[in-house]
Amino acid sequence: MVPYGYKAAALMFYSLVAFIAASKDDKGKVSEVQETERHPRESQLNLREVVFVIQSQRNSFHAQRAQRLQADLLLQAEALQESLPAILLLHTLSENEGDWSILPLLPYLSSHFGKNSSWVLFLEEETNVNLGKLHNILKKFERRNEWFLGKSLHDDESTIIHHYAFAENPSAFKYPDFSAGWALSMPLVNRLSNKVQEQPLKSDFTIDLKHEVALYIWDEGKGPRLTAVPELCALPEHSPQAQRCATTVNTHSPLCGEPVKKEAIFVAVKTCKKFHTERVPVVKKTWEKQAAHLEYYSDHADPSIPTVDLGVPNTDRGHCGKTFAILKRYVSGAVPKTDWLLIVDDDTLISLPRLQALLSCYDPTEPVFLGERYGYGLGQGGYSYITGGGGMVFSREAVLRLLSSGCKCYSNDAPDDMVLGMCFNSLRLSVTHSPLFHQARPDDYARDFLAHQTPISFHKHWNIDPIAVFHKLRQVVPEIF
Ligand SMILES: *[C@@H]1O[C@H](CO)[C@@H](O)[C@H](O)[C@H]1NC(C)=O
Repeated sequence: MVPYGYKAAALMFYSLVAFIAASKDDKGKVSEVQETERHPRESQLNLREVVFVIQSQRNSFHAQRAQRLQADLLLQAEALQESLPAILLLHTLSENEGDWSILPLLPYLSSHFGKNSSWVLFLEEETNVNLGKLHNILKKFERRNEWFLGKSLHDDESTIIHHYAFAENPSAFKYPDFSAGWALSMPLVNRLSNKVQEQPLKSDFTIDLKHEVALYIWDEGKGPRLTAVPELCALPEHSPQAQRCATTVNTHSPLCGEPVKKEAIFVAVKTCKKFHTERVPVVKKTWEKQAAHLEYYSDHADPSIPTVDLGVPNTDRGHCGKTFAILKRYVSGAVPKTDWLLIVDDDTLISLPRLQALLSCYDPTEPVFLGERYGYGLGQGGYSYITGGGGMVFSREAVLRLLSSGCKCYSNDAPDDMVLGMCFNSLRLSVTHSPLFHQARPDDYARDFLAHQTPISFHKHWNIDPIAVFHKLRQVVPEIF
């Protein structure tokens, strides 16, 4: 959750940016690549000149997935009888928490590879790569120019997660679907690296990284737009349309054995008196039945729901006091002892069966803090946090470590999710990101982006039918093309 004052300010700021953008460049298309530009003379490009960066995470499950992708790329390079390229796991490069937001990492990439390499290719854990095809595609671009390549996404409507940017023409701005892989040519990496070092990164919040990176690179027209490359695909690997693709996406939701039992998850729903009749009935009609252990926490005891009054007054801004009271109750013996704790808002829509499947991949004896990751002040040594509306998942171990650290709310109405992020950051425990949790409504995300995932949660009832959104989360077979 983001403080309201910030939201209002951001809205004004970004509408202004969008206005300037719209008036400066009203064509607003992805730069169309001239054939001549794309095929200079096919240049010699040694695969060694491509630096692969896997956007990996510290959590053991994610680190293993990234290592598997790394090993696969090395095998492919050997089979092509190419000398081996550098394949970096992002989480191992430094201790800097902000690295996952990419821009703070550019000086490192520039200083290590800026003189001896031609491309940096970024991959996610779930990206599949056909190295031979990828090599052939990169060869076609004149490497002395600045290139920003990817599979393009756009917004159909202006959306809160992009601060309502380009409100006049939301689909004009294209940004890359990171799952399909995306690339920067080295001249662009080197220039951006200088820029990052000369002017500290201004943006406070990191919310949708792929959009923010594209905005930074485009720089109101001073930098390149995304060039859409049809061979970078977000299709499932074995889809018939994927034959031309150099990259594809592993669209299966992670499942690592049996889903965890529903009895292994304790669910805490945060509500308050004014939403007992408005929002709680939606939870009751939809996903409450999927939970084995669930309590509603409010500022008012209402036996008809029932709610538990935690003795913390309701606050309009953040719920830090309430959330810490929930954490203490969770370990107190007042509720069943479970491996996992899920804290949600009363307007979160979530699929617990899908969460049970996902949690089979995590070890509850590790301190796991999982959900949709946002960042605060990452350019200047800030911290990451799990944004509350999409659901925050804690292993019991994570809760125990947090409480025994003595980390506290600085006020009852502090934003709970951000304080938790600060606390975990000071314990040097990384939050774990899953793109399957969503802080906003389905309409707030690009359709093509949602098409290749099986979402676990959405948030907010505003202007939508929450029951219909929940029914989407119940489909057993995800809608993949
Ligand atoms: C470029 O230099 C880095 C070390 O700074 C090295 O790891 C990498 O292998 C070099 N790449 C090439 C293509 O020589």
